[in-house]
Amino acid sequence: MKKIVVAVLGANGWMGKVHSNAYAGLERQFGDLGAEVRIKWLIDQDEAAIEKLARRLGGCQTSTDWTDAVSDPEVDLIDICLPDKIHYEVAKAALQAGKHVYCEKPMTDTGDQAREIAAIAREKGLITRVGHSFPVNPAHRLAKRLIDNGDIGDITFFKGAQHVDTHGSPLAPFIWRLDGDLAATGIVGDTGSHVFSFMDYLVGPIDELTAHCPILFPERPEVSGAVYGQAVEIAADTPKRAVTNPDLGMLMCRFRNGAVGIVDFSRIATGKRFVQRYEIYGTKGAITYDYDNITRLHVYQAPGNGRPAGFTAVDVGPDMPEYGAYLPLANFGLGYNEIKAYEVREVIGSIVDNREIWPTFTDAQRIVGLVDACMESHASRKWVQVNNGN
Ligand SMILES: NC(=O)c1ccc[n+]([C@@H]2O[C@H](COP(=O)([O-])OP(=O)(O)OC[C@H]3O[C@@H](n4cnc5c(N)ncnc54)[C@H](O)[C@@H]3O)[C@@H](O)[C@H]2O)c1
Repeated sequence: MKKIVVAVLGANGWMGKVHSNAYAGLERQFGDLGAEVRIKWLIDQDEAAIEKLARRLGGCQTSTDWTDAVSDPEVDLIDICLPDKIHYEVAKAALQAGKHVYCEKPMTDTGDQAREIAAIAREKGLITRVGHSFPVNPAHRLAKRLIDNGDIGDITFFKGAQHVDTHGSPLAPFIWRLDGDLAATGIVGDTGSHVFSFMDYLVGPIDELTAHCPILFPERPEVSGAVYGQAVEIAADTPKRAVTNPDLGMLMCRFRNGAVGIVDFSRIATGKRFVQRYEIYGTKGAITYDYDNITRLHVYQAPGNGRPAGFTAVDVGPDMPEYGAYLPLANFGLGYNEIKAYEVREVIGSIVDNREIWPTFTDAQRIVGLVDACMESHASRKWVQVNNGN
């Protein structure tokens, strides 16, 4: 049987643990994968923590230096769960070493970097995938099927949003996500890129946009050990650190197919712990989605053929493989980790079948192109053309 040897980079972080757990449980959850999958390397700068993790997962080597994994001839797949800034350098080195690459979003800091490494991947014929996660949810795959079938006609208008409230309070502490050196585009690459992934997947490429992406809180208390999403006690004399990337983004855009869109995203939506929603309007119908009902779409089709007027709730169920792999009944609720594990399963499937699945590096370069365009538009206060790279 084919063997796929994996290295998880950033293994002690949120995504690193989600990915590692997914690999460890793949066969148990999904049955025969067509390959034997083994994590060989757990890489993280927190040495003590990954040694503990390696003991739990069993049989993994550890290192604080990602080049150990990239230079290992036995490794087939480099899985990048590192902070944004390092994605480009690591992905490029991995592709040049002939490895398949699965990289967390945002793929790179800039469109130029994204186009460069997408070209290397194409030239070398390697499998790539960016971990945009959410569109793997079968609800969105159903939405795509309805759109591609023409069930809602020509798309005219997309409205989307994604928000968290981790930094709604000015006392929420500084973390790497607010550091323009480690996360160049802040919330635009972090959360905006998730909405952009829906736009690219469901509606198509965007040709131009205008965006406003301000830093609303220019400094934050700096507390050692601050963890994403966890409140900490802040003393009056806690030192402050400058925030150097955007807290929020708002944009208007024009898709290549003539549709228009408006989008907002932020990390400052006080009280809204996690918001993700979209509305897609067409000439014959509409589709709306809200993460609060994670596997449910609301679909409208113009009345006729016995169809009543009004939106219908559609729950995806076990007839879709992404759902049926976990649950026998509809509307039991898939979770983020299950959707992510399905993404990991697809990455392995792509390698086994030598068949790429959206979003590859070439697809994701359009998403990074949108992030670039937002930053450029904010700086110039003008509408800008999006460099889709294709
Ligand atoms: N797809 C999604 O839904 C989703 C969700 C969260 C995060 N992300 C992305 O995943 C990536 C990681 O985010 P996270 O929330 O897991 O971050 P995190 O801070 O929890 O984890 C990052 C890990 O990388 C390690 N690390 C940092 N620099 C390193 C280096 N040079 N060498 C080795 N290890 C290093 C850290 O010690 C940490 O354990 C980011 O790009 C983020 O945007 C994606």
